[in-house]
Amino acid sequence: MRSSFGLFRCAGTLALVLLLIGLARAEDELKNPFAGNAAAAAEGKRLFLKTGCYSCHGHEAEGAVGPDLTDDEWIYKPTDSMIFNTIAKGRRGTVMAPFSDQFTPEEIWEIGEFLRDKNRQRHLKQQ
Ligand code: HEC
Repeated sequence: MRSSFGLFRCAGTLALVLLLIGLARAEDELKNPFAGNAAAAAEGKRLFLKTGCYSCHGHEAEGAVGPDLTDDEWIYKPTDSMIFNTIAKGRRGTVMAPFSDQFTPEEIWEIGEFLRDKNRQRHLKQQ
């Protein structure tokens, strides 16, 4: 009896560890629900200008004090999660402030889609 109880506890711990790994993975793989949505990109641009992102990143996100957000050069790997978290939480130790109190998650994704759309336009122009 005792040993089978130990086995259950062990299985429980294993399940917990797997659950935590799953959660960590899910965090890594946040995906923009508005990918490819032109209306969301337009709304994202409006928010980008309204909130003052442009004062550091330029009116077309082409870069100024803050980096260009439309090219393929990024400080960190440009996953949807990275873009979302940077806008939501900011970059500690830099002037890039957190904006989670000013936007809903949907609005952050719309801005993310605006930036993706700018990047796609840029590639079209280069061809
Ligand atoms: C006061 C200036 C300032 C403002 C305002 C600002 N940013 Fe930034 N932003 C920065 C700087 C500087 C960095 C680079 C931080 C670093 O060195 O990691 C950055 C980084 C970023 C990055 C990641 C770039 C990369 O290459 O990894 C994104 C995305 C971004 N900002 C989006 C926004 C959005 C969206 C807004 C408006 C809601 C905004 N920023 C407002 C200065 C600013």
